[in-house]
Amino acid sequence: TWANVEMGPPDAILGVTEAFKRDTNPKKMNLGVGAYRDDNGKPFILECVKEAEQMMLREGVDHEYAPIIGPPEFCKEAAKLAFGDDSPVISEGRNVTVQGVSGTGSLRIGGEFFSKWYNKSKLFYLPSPSWGNHTPIFKHSGLEVKSYRYYDPGTCGYDFKGAMEDISNIPEGSTIVLHACAHNPTGVDPRPEQWKEMSALIKKKKLFPFFDMAYQGFASGSIDKDAFAVRHFLEDGHQIALAQSFAKNMGLYGERAGAFSIVCGSKEEADRVMSQVKIIIRPLYSNPPVHGSRIAARVLSNPDLRTMWLGEVKGMADRIITMRTRLREGLAKEGSSHNWQHITDQIGMFCFTGLKPDQVEKLTSEYSVYLTKDGRISVAGITSGTVDYLAHAIHQVTK
Ligand code: LMR
Repeated sequence: TWANVEMGPPDAILGVTEAFKRDTNPKKMNLGVGAYRDDNGKPFILECVKEAEQMMLREGVDHEYAPIIGPPEFCKEAAKLAFGDDSPVISEGRNVTVQGVSGTGSLRIGGEFFSKWYNKSKLFYLPSPSWGNHTPIFKHSGLEVKSYRYYDPGTCGYDFKGAMEDISNIPEGSTIVLHACAHNPTGVDPRPEQWKEMSALIKKKKLFPFFDMAYQGFASGSIDKDAFAVRHFLEDGHQIALAQSFAKNMGLYGERAGAFSIVCGSKEEADRVMSQVKIIIRPLYSNPPVHGSRIAARVLSNPDLRTMWLGEVKGMADRIITMRTRLREGLAKEGSSHNWQHITDQIGMFCFTGLKPDQVEKLTSEYSVYLTKDGRISVAGITSGTVDYLAHAIHQVTK
């Protein structure tokens, strides 16, 4: 029956983990998927999450269906985290916020909603490069994916001039996808002044800003600073769309807790939009899994757990920064003559190393260091015990 079905390629990111698992070298390192590890290379369960889970068990949570949009208290807390506690958008009831199946599912709800209801344009502009899953998410939603310049390989930094030039040529009414903070895969973000100029231009060009915020807290270590772009665009009067994920900043990867929001012009408009978002979700998966979103709601709304959480997010961000410094020092110690400043300049979970595909290939085949083909490494996967080995391996394939 399925003779016509061709073998598909492994996933560009999750396929790396599959290959890593097959490797028997005891020194192997998985720097592919963006998943935080502690300094022993072990998955990290946040203390605030453990406490929230224990509270829930003590109270005896049931396993009833959630509403189509997920637990209402989760939606409320997710929106406050992104827009700010005193955001007029929330007090005026202008946001439609629903739980999605983590960041991916939230983006997909957005993609489906735009595909069905946004009648100005089907064009979606992504930064070049962008997260590998963005393109299929939006294409499978029936949208047409294009790109704008973002990363400058010459400086390993943000190509602000190129981005502004490309944005000014995007046809009116198109949607522009923006990484709110800690850009994946490059670790390169616009500065606040640059965000301001981008916001003004996007407004002038009448583009629709669609934010993906998967790393709130990971760029600066501060939840509020990392929400700067989202909040600034709102202050400028944009009606944004937003996908959020709690995979990284609460370590809830497999629990699939995320949120999708659209900001509307009025409460009445928001009610209509909400009704249609629910109509999209119901035949997809009926209603979302609730364990993770209940934890997230608890952590965000309980003052003690929230304080604990903010400290733990900062702790994760700081360990990553230390690993960046250690890697750069290690490369210098190895005698590398290359300029590795971008390792410490870039932010968030990833470093876009600049390694070429053949160097990536060698790093994997000769040193069992696993990373994506574009040269991205998840710095969160490096530990005090492995950083020198990694520096040595990178030096060997780049000298
Ligand atoms: C990544 O980019 O590694 C993460 O966002 C995980 C994923 O789902 O790809």
